[in-house]
Amino acid sequence: MATVRLNQKHRALVRSVPASYKRAIARFFGTGPTDIALAKVQHQAYIDALRQAGVEVHCLEADDNHPDCIFVEDQAVVVDGHMLLPTPGAPSRVAEQPPIADFLMSALEGIQTCNMGGDARMDGGDIVRLGDLFFVGRSSRTNDLGIASLRSLLDFFDYELRIIDIPPQALHLTSICSTPTDDIILAPEGYLDADAFGILPVGCEVIWMPAEETYGCNTIGLPNGTVLIAEGYPTVKATLEQRGLTTVELDMSEIRAADGSLTCCSIFY
Ligand code: GLY
Repeated sequence: MATVRLNQKHRALVRSVPASYKRAIARFFGTGPTDIALAKVQHQAYIDALRQAGVEVHCLEADDNHPDCIFVEDQAVVVDGHMLLPTPGAPSRVAEQPPIADFLMSALEGIQTCNMGGDARMDGGDIVRLGDLFFVGRSSRTNDLGIASLRSLLDFFDYELRIIDIPPQALHLTSICSTPTDDIILAPEGYLDADAFGILPVGCEVIWMPAEETYGCNTIGLPNGTVLIAEGYPTVKATLEQRGLTTVELDMSEIRAADGSLTCCSIFY
């Protein structure tokens, strides 16, 4: 999940792969999952990698009525002890939320929670955090009313929010960038303007990756200096390692097949 700082990533919520996973939405880089057994193996390897890096992982049961239910990132936005429950942009995914919200509310006793109303829509996958600076994708899943709702939460903390228009060939903001540390944004060439992220705080930088490594730009940095990356993206791997980070490569083929990336499969809380 892209809305917490590196040093806040101690607990993660994930959700098992449902028997219906082959029916997950695949309209962008995915061509549709074909092998549920392999998806389960890859999902377990993801959980194991988080645990090995010191993260406490809680896994919710799959919901076979919701083929996309493993992509929990979209369903809750946790920021510094507050939680926004967005109305997801895909109607078929709206009912994935209640068990996730219930779990987080009980795990984070006393957490301040707000819901979205009316026509506001947002997927958590459209939010990326770089320290005190947030970016939100205006996408096929996230609209201006959803962004306004996020902005009211971030105003409470005095955090800045910048809007990035997501090109039609991408699903979410996290489909095309991530913050493996609190001062680096990894993003691919060819999707966003060079100034899309604006002027960054001192010490922060955007590192542009070749377009063919777009999928690899979605990473999960962890407090122990480990960064989970998708297998097969040598420039991403070398770039992170040159900065002293330890990469752990995961085979994401069956997750990618449903338009999912590493961050999509967890919420840090
Ligand atoms: N398949 C993930 C999504 O479309 O939200």
